[in-house]
Amino acid sequence: MGTHARLLFCWLCLQVIFATVLSDVWKAEVVSELKALVSSCVVLPCKFQYPGKPLPDSRIRGIWHKQDKHDQRLYHEDPIEIADNFKGRTRLLGHLGEKNCTLEIDEVRNHDHGPFCFRAEIPTIEKYSFVESCVALSMMPAPEKPKLEQMKTLEDGVPATFKCSIRHTCPSHPPTITWSRSNSEATWSNRDILHGNWEMESLLIFIPTEKDDFTDLTCTVSFHGGLQSSVSSLMLVKRKSSWACQTGERPAQSKANFLHIIIPVVAVLGTSLLFGGVFYIMCKKYRRQIQDLQSRNASVYNNY
Ligand SMILES: *[C@@H]1O[C@H](CO)[C@@H](O)[C@H](O)[C@H]1NC(C)=O
Repeated sequence: MGTHARLLFCWLCLQVIFATVLSDVWKAEVVSELKALVSSCVVLPCKFQYPGKPLPDSRIRGIWHKQDKHDQRLYHEDPIEIADNFKGRTRLLGHLGEKNCTLEIDEVRNHDHGPFCFRAEIPTIEKYSFVESCVALSMMPAPEKPKLEQMKTLEDGVPATFKCSIRHTCPSHPPTITWSRSNSEATWSNRDILHGNWEMESLLIFIPTEKDDFTDLTCTVSFHGGLQSSVSSLMLVKRKSSWACQTGERPAQSKANFLHIIIPVVAVLGTSLLFGGVFYIMCKKYRRQIQDLQSRNASVYNNY
């Protein structure tokens, strides 16, 4: 190998190493497609890598623009640079120094479908538009219905669990879930289910009674921006199972019936025996007295 060839080879090697290092350094991770509810908000998760040492937020400029029109900016730190139809509706939630370029779009409109791309500028050093990893939004003009799950059979006096859940993409202003009966027995949680999707869930536990039979239980979701959706379920409450009670009561009842008959019989027999006895003794006594009186009278008459 000649000196020239050797030099060319080294130069090529350096090029390859440099290119791979650079492509490793400037990188953005976004969700390529996300649903967005019109009038509500949508949060576009975003992470990026930049070359060199970590910098403070103030040293990096973050910009979001349309994929096909770089001058159509939906976010810029200087509001004058933002396109009119996005003015006042976008907010950078992530800290750029922490390599977090997460963006919130509020009051989502029908035409906000994108795709939108992030661009980082480190003044006096470098600028980079991540046009190969952009986010497209699919617009939802109306909200989805929440999902309501409940136990198959409801029984009078037995605690029952109801679960109402809704998916959303607006974690900065999550939807609220309310129930048609007391919300004091309910709990809520908002879960990250990955790729920019979240699930708001409410659990309601209460003890149904016969009064709840054939009534509706409704779960209503209110989204940021004012839209609502709800779902109802008809509750059928089974009566308390009576088998255990009957078998438990039967011996006591027959004993009671037995006593009901025995007591009056004994009482009647007892009293008639008593009265009969007293009557017999009295009769005997009076007969003797009458006989005495009669014999005395007879002697008196005889004496006169
Ligand atoms: C980026 O910022 C958002 C908004 O503050 C936050 O919810 C998210 O967890 C952050 N992501 C990472 C990877 O730190």
